[in-house]
Amino acid sequence: MNLEKIKSEVVGCTKCGLCKTRKNAVPGKGSPKSDIVFVGEAPGGTEDERGEPFVGSAGKRLTEALEKNGLSRDSVYITNVVKCRPPGNRVPTEEERAMCMQYLEAELDAIGPKVVCVLGNTASSSVLGQADITKNRGKMVEKNGRKYFLTFHPAAVIYNQKLAAVFEGDIATLAKIVRGI
Ligand code: URA
Ligand code: SF4
Repeated sequence: MNLEKIKSEVVGCTKCGLCKTRKNAVPGKGSPKSDIVFVGEAPGGTEDERGEPFVGSAGKRLTEALEKNGLSRDSVYITNVVKCRPPGNRVPTEEERAMCMQYLEAELDAIGPKVVCVLGNTASSSVLGQADITKNRGKMVEKNGRKYFLTFHPAAVIYNQKLAAVFEGDIATLAKIVRGI
């Protein structure tokens, strides 16, 4: 399935209860030829308003880290495990994640990136079945023929200078790894 088709399915999706409270579904966005796909948790308030992923304060952090490493937002692809905002920004349930996973799989199949960058514990547990991001960040993992790189969620580093530096270092490492593949 191509990205336009996936996007139109996401926008009209009513598979889980989050469709009732969303303003806008938030499909992934970016280059269909990207070497890197970034996967977050779920849209927040700004994303729900605009129908675009990572356009609020966490998105600002991510964008800054990308640009410091010569990557523009348009040159990569950015998406989430769950495409509709959970009320009050709660963590998406197991059921919501399972219902939405087909879209992430389809996005990854359509793009075929060199590396999938998993942002934070919700994405890591959903995609890789491992949650300890503090221990596993900065590492590459292979699963079912795909390569993954793990780091913090950018929202987790906003008020913590130390974590912010680690996050930016991880994005620099990722950029270097991808250039070498
Ligand atoms: N946090 C996420 O996980 N995803 C977004 O799109 C925005 C904030
Ligand atoms: Fe569909 Fe995913 Fe939105 Fe649920 S979160 S309604 S599965 S697009």
